[in-house]
Amino acid sequence: MTERETWATRAGFILAAVGSAVGLGNIWQFPFKTAQFGGASFLIVYIIAALGIGLPAILAEFVIGRKTNLNTINAFEKLGYKEWRIVGAIGLFTGFWILSYYSVVGGWVLRYIGGSLTGAYFAAPAEYFGQVSAGMDALALHAVFMALVVGIVAAGIEDGIEKATKLMVPSIVVILGVLAAFAFTLPGASEGYAYFLSPDFNALTENFADIVPFAVGQAFFSLSLGMGAMITYASYIDGDQSLFGDGITIVFLNSFVGILAGLVVLPLLFAQGIDPNTSGAGAVFISVAGAFADIPGGQIIGLVFFVVVLIAALSSAISLLEVVVSWSIDNYDVSRPQMAVGLGGVIFLLGVPSAIDTAWLGWFDTLAYKLLLPLSVLGILVFAAWVYGAPAIEELMKGSGLGDGVGLTWLWLVRTLVIVAVVATLALGLQTLFLGESPAIVPPL
Ligand code: PFF
Repeated sequence: MTERETWATRAGFILAAVGSAVGLGNIWQFPFKTAQFGGASFLIVYIIAALGIGLPAILAEFVIGRKTNLNTINAFEKLGYKEWRIVGAIGLFTGFWILSYYSVVGGWVLRYIGGSLTGAYFAAPAEYFGQVSAGMDALALHAVFMALVVGIVAAGIEDGIEKATKLMVPSIVVILGVLAAFAFTLPGASEGYAYFLSPDFNALTENFADIVPFAVGQAFFSLSLGMGAMITYASYIDGDQSLFGDGITIVFLNSFVGILAGLVVLPLLFAQGIDPNTSGAGAVFISVAGAFADIPGGQIIGLVFFVVVLIAALSSAISLLEVVVSWSIDNYDVSRPQMAVGLGGVIFLLGVPSAIDTAWLGWFDTLAYKLLLPLSVLGILVFAAWVYGAPAIEELMKGSGLGDGVGLTWLWLVRTLVIVAVVATLALGLQTLFLGESPAIVPPL
């Protein structure tokens, strides 16, 4: 078996992890949900969830990955807890599951890049979406998106993922910055800012029970937690850098890009008098595309926008294919390119129902959000804090230069509040999933 790969630089790891985190969740979901759930007041709940629950959880994944230098399943075995491999397996399965439909949406984005070039969606955005979102067209572009993902992952950690994300992540920030500056110049933009950034505490208190689990779920999805991605990426770290520092940087950049995306999307919609209070995957595509149809230079702006969404989606998708590729090459004597192609093919097949009917896509997504993600994160947290315990603190503190108090605080925070919050999220998710209560929260994509 060939020697296991590592990141060439610390920045390489951070950018790859940010690339995994920043994705459709940030650009599609985050601005709309923030607007819908009370603007700045939701933002505050989200930031508390990201820092209070997301950060401790990402650190738990980093600890498991870096300590073992192994994939998300074998890592538990190496730590001496063979039976806990099931937690890694749930994460791996969750990643597999999510990537299958995420790639379908990635295919839509490819289609919209073409549609911006030709102006195809300008006349009737809703009909256009209806035509391209399901069926042969969607299936073909789902295949193209997966092929791009496979291409990057096949090239390896340093030559594929690290090189790609070093280019991709800065591009995302710069392009979104330019688009935000453009959106600022549109008449009516200020209404968009007001909608996005002014707190509506009534909306928050009225829907608190819905909003909090959604904010937590969004923090998990957005930080790529519970999918094996962060364990796997951390397993390629070679050295004792501060995991704390890395975690905070990643959480900060991820939230920053979400807010930046909001500063692009919402002024754009308001400038065109489009109500952002629409739900579901399609509506988002339709409303943003509709806005491009009406602004001067919309074809170019639309093109640039969908290109940045594509970059964000690709840099996320590679992290999930890497989870399974990493597991297979750690265990079997097979080559990385072979496994990338083979597993990419299996994930493509799993995505076929979602490509054929958007109702399936919604179902896949709902199950991921409400059951798989919180369950997987819960397993990791219970393992790291209650089972593994003290050695986790030691690994976390390595190279951080911080006192032991910080590690102990992390441990007890995870052991208590964080786990309770995740259990509550899981319980609420299951309640709406199985008791058939109409979910106040629409499927996130
Ligand atoms: N953090 C990603 C996002 O917000 O889009 C979540 C993700 C989904 C990562 C799907 C990878 C992926 F394939």
